[in-house]
Amino acid sequence: MAFVTSEQMMAAADRNGYAIGAFNVENMEMVMAVVRAAEELHAPAILQTTPSTVKYAGLPLYYANVKAAAERAGVPIALHLDHGSSFELAMQALRTGYTSIMIDGSKEQFEDNIAVTKRVADACRPSGIPVEAELGKVGGKEDDLDCNDPGYTDPDDAVRFVAETGITSLAVAIGTAHGIYKGEPKLDMERLSEIRSRVSIPLVLHGASGVPDEAVRECIRRGISKVNFATELRIAYSNGVKEFLQANPSAFDPKKYGAVAMEHVTALVKEKILVCGSDGKADMV
Ligand code: 13P
Repeated sequence: MAFVTSEQMMAAADRNGYAIGAFNVENMEMVMAVVRAAEELHAPAILQTTPSTVKYAGLPLYYANVKAAAERAGVPIALHLDHGSSFELAMQALRTGYTSIMIDGSKEQFEDNIAVTKRVADACRPSGIPVEAELGKVGGKEDDLDCNDPGYTDPDDAVRFVAETGITSLAVAIGTAHGIYKGEPKLDMERLSEIRSRVSIPLVLHGASGVPDEAVRECIRRGISKVNFATELRIAYSNGVKEFLQANPSAFDPKKYGAVAMEHVTALVKEKILVCGSDGKADMV
C-alpha cells in the first residue's frame, strides 16, 4: 500500500479506540520484520529511528529501506523521527522524506521547549508532515537521553503547550520509562484521563517495553493513540542472533542468523499489534 503520514493513522485510531504501534528499527532486517508483522495482521504501523540510530547509518538509508518496504507492503506504513534532538535534525528528516517527526525539547525549560517545538511544527506544516513533542519527562534511558529525574505531564501545561506550539500529537509522561523496568511501573491513569479530556490532539505513550499488556490496553482506552516499543525489539533481535550462533558456531552467512532474528522480531511485533488493537485496521487509514 502506501507510505503515509502518522497523522492519518493516528486520527483513525483516535476515532475508533485503538492505537498504532510505533516500532524502533535499527537495520534492514528490523525494518523487514516489522513490516512483515504489520502485513500478516493487516495493521498500519509506524517505524521509527532515534538520533543514535540515525547516526549509525544515516537518514537516507533508513528512508530508502522503509520506503521500499512500504511500497511493496499491503498496509500503510509511516517513518517517524523518534526523539528528534534538534531543529536541524528535524529539518534533515523532513527533507529526507520522513513522514512524521518528533522534536523532543522535554529536557529544556517549559518556555524553551515551546519555542523549539513551535519552530519545528511551523516548518513542517507547509509539507503536511505531523509533529509530535514531549511534555514532562519520560524516565529511563533512550539513546543519549538519560533521564534520572522523570516528571509527570501537568494537564494545565499540556493545554498551553499544545495551543502555543501547533503540534499534531503529544507524548505524555505518566510513569512509563524507556528501557527495562526494575519493578512493575505505576502509571498515573487519572492524569492521562484528565489530559485526554482537555487536549484534543492524539496522545502518545513512550517507554512501553515491559509495561504489562493490560496496562497498555487501559492507556489506550483512556485515549492513547500511538504506543512506542524499542527495547523489547532490540532484545528479540539480539536473542535471535545469539540463539542461531550458539547452535551454529561455525555459521558465517549473515542471512542465516538475520532470518532467525527477523522471526523473533516479527513474532514480538505481532503480539504488540494485538495489544494495540490495530490488527485488521489497515483499511481505516
Ligand atoms: P522502550 O524502549 O521502553 O520500549 O521505549 C520506546 C520508546 O518510547 C521510544 O521512543
